[in-house]
Amino acid sequence: MKTLHIKTATCDSHIICGEGAFQSEIPSLCEGLTFTVTDSNVYKLYRNIFDDIFSKSGSVYVIPAGEKSKNYNVLLGILKAMLSAGLKRNSTVFAVGGGVVGDICGLAASLYMRGVKLVQVPTTLLSQVDSSVGGKTAIDLCGVKNIVGTFYQPGTVVVDPMFLSTLPAREIRCGLGEIIKYGALNKDIYVKLIENKNNLRSPEFLKDITFDCIQHKAEVVRRDERESGLRKTLNLGHTTGHAFELYYKRKSHGEFVLIGMYYELFIAVKRGICAAEYADSLIQLIKKVINIPAYEDAEKACLMAVYDKKNVCAAEVSLIVPAEAGRCEELRLPVDEYAAEIAQCALKIREDKQ
Ligand SMILES: NC(=O)c1ccc[n+]([C@@H]2O[C@H](COP(=O)([O-])OP(=O)(O)OC[C@H]3O[C@@H](n4cnc5c(N)ncnc54)[C@H](O)[C@@H]3O)[C@@H](O)[C@H]2O)c1
Repeated sequence: MKTLHIKTATCDSHIICGEGAFQSEIPSLCEGLTFTVTDSNVYKLYRNIFDDIFSKSGSVYVIPAGEKSKNYNVLLGILKAMLSAGLKRNSTVFAVGGGVVGDICGLAASLYMRGVKLVQVPTTLLSQVDSSVGGKTAIDLCGVKNIVGTFYQPGTVVVDPMFLSTLPAREIRCGLGEIIKYGALNKDIYVKLIENKNNLRSPEFLKDITFDCIQHKAEVVRRDERESGLRKTLNLGHTTGHAFELYYKRKSHGEFVLIGMYYELFIAVKRGICAAEYADSLIQLIKKVINIPAYEDAEKACLMAVYDKKNVCAAEVSLIVPAEAGRCEELRLPVDEYAAEIAQCALKIREDKQ
């Protein structure tokens, strides 16, 4: 079992990662009254195990699967259920699911009685490599992603690759989106990705790279918990990715991160921030996972970026772009220049496809 510890002024978080971690670690964390949130898909698959482990010490609350659940009605439902279950400040809340469950349940745990103990048990590749670590919680509001939330660190994160065995191929693809993002931020991860580019989906490779990504994120969170500087780098690909996610909706978060990275790499190369050869190696990885759409209305779609909370100034957008292996840069662009370059990228993709 591999372990990590994140300690900051406000955070003391233990991460336990490895095959069998769920069965070996969870029972000892079920002290006192517990309250477990999961989603309908995960519950269907793991009901027997959950009933066995969680139902002895408390109740299991199931929310509908999918991003549509990240709203205030579902949040209120969780909070009311916590109250009816008689949760006290020394009770423990378990978020067992993907990033959606982790984000909304984390938010509920941070609000209930001004904060109760939280354990994150990520069950998707994306949540294992990224969202379960670092303490960001959120719901969406009026179509704006993650606009209402808190920083609230889980006391423990239990990462067990067992859960990946039931993941649909698409969800593996989404997780690979965030993993390739880490490859653009961390040279060692980049090298591993290049060496395994024909093997990206193998369970052994995913198990190994998951811990590397968590380690990278843990280091970033240790140094900049509240995203005043370094943590912003984790938003690589996310400005355009989130804008397209808001506009087109059809794909999911990790897929849009890859699409965002592709479009933003085009801008980085055009502006001489990133060498074409290095960009090309990242593009080859991206294309192993997803076909990049040549959006007809990319220029309009990317304007959704001004609604992103990362862009404090409505006249400019901020992009985190790869510069060289292990280094990225922040690029701030006037909105009209940004939209024009995104449109050029879409045109280039269309031409290349002909
Ligand atoms: N807090 C953060 O730092 C952070 C970082 C990145 C992303 N996010 C958020 O995470 C969310 C995306 O997370 P996600 O991709 O995990 O989505 P998700 O939680 O919607 O899970 C994706 C799908 O997989 C299903 N699923 C989950 N575990 C499964 C399993 N073991 N077997 C089979 N099916 C399973 C779910 O029911 C769902 O249908 C977004 O809302 C995004 O904003 C948060």
